[in-house]
This record gives sequence, C-alpha cells and structure tokens, in this order.
Amino acid sequence: MIVLGIESSCDDTSVAVYDSERGILSNVVSSQFIHLEFGGVYPELAAREHTKNFLPVLDKALKDAKISLNDVDVVTATFMPGLIISLVVGVSAAKSLSFSINKPIVPVHHIEAHIFANFLVKEIEYPFIALVVSGGHTELILVKDFEDYLYIGGTLDDAVGEVFDKVARAMDLGFPGGPVIDRLAQNGKEVIKFPRPMINEKGENRFNFSFSGLKTAVIKEIRKGIHTKEDIAASFQGAIIETLLKKTLDACNEFNVKRVVIAGGVSANSKLREEVSKIKGIEFYYPPLNLCTDNGAMVAFTGFKRFSKYKKGFKLDFEAKAKCR
Ligand code: KG4
Ligand code: ZN
Repeated sequence: MIVLGIESSCDDTSVAVYDSERGILSNVVSSQFIHLEFGGVYPELAAREHTKNFLPVLDKALKDAKISLNDVDVVTATFMPGLIISLVVGVSAAKSLSFSINKPIVPVHHIEAHIFANFLVKEIEYPFIALVVSGGHTELILVKDFEDYLYIGGTLDDAVGEVFDKVARAMDLGFPGGPVIDRLAQNGKEVIKFPRPMINEKGENRFNFSFSGLKTAVIKEIRKGIHTKEDIAASFQGAIIETLLKKTLDACNEFNVKRVVIAGGVSANSKLREEVSKIKGIEFYYPPLNLCTDNGAMVAFTGFKRFSKYKKGFKLDFEAKAKCR
C-alpha cells in the first residue's frame, strides 16, 4: 500500500511517500527561513509559504519516490494540533487530492505522528511512556497501545522547544534556537545553577512542567553579561534536561513501565541523548535526526496505522483543529 503523508502544522511544508512493503520512499521537507527576522513563527506568513511551497514539495516527493499521483492508495494529513491557518492549507490540499484521485483520506494527530516516527526504525513494545518535546508541546503520555493513551502531564506554560527558541533569541542566535544552543552548549560548562521548576512537586502537579520562570532567569543572566554564551547554554540545557528526565523516570516508576519513547524536535538534542544513554534499567528510544522535527514520513506512517486499524478512510468533512484538548 502506498501512503502519501502531508504535514503543515507549523512552519515546515512536508510531503512523504510511505510504502507498507518497502518503507519510506521519499520525505521532502521545505523549512521556512522567512521567520528568521521575527525570532519565531509568524502564522500568516507560515500559511502563505505553505500555499506557495506545497505543490513543488508534492511534485518532488512523488518524483523522489518514482511514483505518480495515481499510484497513491491513501492520502493522510496532519489535522491537529498546530497553527490553524497552516493546518488548513495541508488539510485542504489532502482533501482535494483524495477527491481528485478518488482514494481514502486519513486525518493524523501531530503528536501521535511524532511518537510513532520512532516505529519507522523499529517496532517498540507497549506499554511505554512518551516524552513529547517540541516547539509547541511538552507532554508525558502513557501509551498502552496504538490509540490507547493516558495523558499524565505536560507544561503549564511554555513548551521546551519554545524556551530554547526564546533563550536563543535573547542571545541573538537566530531561529530555531534549539540546534544552536545544543552546539554552543557542547563548548560550555554548567557553571550557573538555574532553577529546576516544579522538580520536586507532589500531588496532582507531579508530572506537570513550568518553564517560563526558568526562561526569565536565563534571560536575566544573559543581560547581566557575566558568563559566556556557551556556559549559559550548557547551564540552561542542563536545567531543562534534569527536569524532563526526573519526571519521566518518576512516571516510569509510578506506572511500572520500562520503556520511554522521546519524540518531537527537542529529541534531536545531543545532551539529552547523552544523558539517557547513562540511565540503567529503562530502554530509551528516539528517532533519527531527520524524523525528530516535523516531517511527512511520520504522518504517512501514522496514517497507515490508522487506516490498517479501521480498514477504511474517513469522511471528507473533518476539520483542522488548533488545540488538542
Ligand atoms: O517538532 P518540531 O519540528 O515542531 C513542533 O511540532 O513544534 O520542533 C521544533 C522545535 C524548535 O523549538 C527547535 O528549537 C527544537 O525543536 N529543536 C531542538 C533541537 N533541534 C530542534 N531543541 C533542542 N536541541 C536540538 N538539537
Ligand atoms: Zn512537531
């Protein structure tokens, strides 16, 4: 079965072709550099760029996969969550394609796609804890099976990737900030003890996060001009990673789970990967670098899993949605 995957939830326009026999045949991602000057994604510009980029990206994805549109068996697209006017571009394109080639359509949840990107490398046994860390999300989810999830906790304010981006902006490092901070931190030392927000929280907030206070503390430190960018980056990253992993391991204990799947753009972070490699007794999984940030391959694969489960497509009248809950 040949599945077309469309992703447009934020600032990456991506189309991929997944073959259930041969795996990913193509995965074309067009990232929007137009947002650089704003230090963050500007929604209206993002939607306009998707509209401009979609057809060339689709064309390349089909050519790379050496197929034509008529070879596609199922069309899939991210329909939530994300920037609504960006999502609408991908969803409308997917509906038009499905209608014109008369093939089923499957809407895909973006967070679910990030988690199942890991399965493109290797099937992972259930249950596992998913730590989803991206520009828009920081969530802990108990995954009991495909489409059987228990939300355990998440951020009460900024998402982890967002904080990386805002700290990078305060240091004039460009956008997205995560990869730049990651590189800078490799030459820095953790000399500043930044707060580890809510790390020892008990009760109903024990699996929740709050990163806005940490962000403010880091930005204040940048403005003081005492420490090098490298040391600030390393200290900031250290505080984030310690907080994320403490709560993830607590969740493993409480739910008696021995596997953790890390997903989303921040799962590309080299220090996070180094730290999880030192943890004994829990198996950690994270995707290859090209599948960490937004891509169509994770959408095509997750759509394929949904289609295989329901054995049919969905009605064309589903809508794009900005929020998860
Ligand atoms: O998953 P993603 O592509 O988009 C969303 O769904 O939000 O994640 C993008 C986020 C950005 O905030 C970016 O700064 C962050 O992932 N990111 C990283 C790294 N690579 C990307 N953060 C930390 N370290 C990295 N190496
Ligand atoms: Zn994402």
